[in-house]
Amino acid sequence: MSRIMVVGGTGLLGSAVVEALQPDHDVTVVGHSSGEHQVDIASKSSIQQLFDTVGEVDHVVSAAGEAKFGPLVDLTDDDFEVGLRNKLMGQVNLVRVGHEYIADGGSITLTTGVLSRQPMEGSAAISLVNAGVEGFMRGAALELGPDLRVNCVSPGWVAETLEQMGRDPSDGVPAADVAKAYVQSLNGSANGEVIEVFG
Ligand SMILES: NC(=O)c1ccc[n+]([C@@H]2O[C@H](COP(=O)([O-])OP(=O)(O)OC[C@H]3O[C@@H](n4cnc5c(N)ncnc54)[C@H](OP(=O)(O)O)[C@@H]3O)[C@@H](O)[C@H]2O)c1
Repeated sequence: MSRIMVVGGTGLLGSAVVEALQPDHDVTVVGHSSGEHQVDIASKSSIQQLFDTVGEVDHVVSAAGEAKFGPLVDLTDDDFEVGLRNKLMGQVNLVRVGHEYIADGGSITLTTGVLSRQPMEGSAAISLVNAGVEGFMRGAALELGPDLRVNCVSPGWVAETLEQMGRDPSDGVPAADVAKAYVQSLNGSANGEVIEVFG
């Protein structure tokens, strides 16, 4: 039974990942304000404290990461800073700190999103961050392998999110189906890959 830490495991995608993994694995659910353990990924020392507390695991999944959506001309320095500190450097630091705590043969799977390759109006700050995480992941995978695999899952719109926004959920992928991509990243041999999940 593998030990798997799911950061963002209390969120929409993360809880679907936890549900998919829980029957067969020892899953540690990490949130920001909820979950078995709390972390603020925008703080490297908080990440360090999390791994010191939880100890060695076989796999880490990150389904956390905030970035601001809005028209480019309206985005402030602070808006950019949120995405850079949280979704970008937060996930980069999960790898920089976490790799010391992951057993040989393990993996770390980060979350980006379709906006890295298919931007839309208002997505500039998020597209920047998603593309940055994917670039980092490819470089990190080269250096940390073969004992540690590093991948990204890049979801398109998630059906439940579209529903919350009052949009047609059938244009998206149910969170439970997106979760299968994380399980594939953990159990397969992928390394340095962006696993895309589109509707
Ligand atoms: N939903 C979509 O349609 C979609 C599509 C593409 C990509 N994504 C990406 O997938 C990721 C997860 O999305 P989601 O819809 O599942 O989000 P969500 O439901 O809002 O869940 C966010 C999760 O991250 C945790 N979190 C929030 N701030 C944090 C921090 N500073 N440090 C550590 N953990 C933090 C939350 O913990 P608490 O519950 O304790 O606050 C929660 O577990 C995001 O990066 C998002 O951009 C989502």
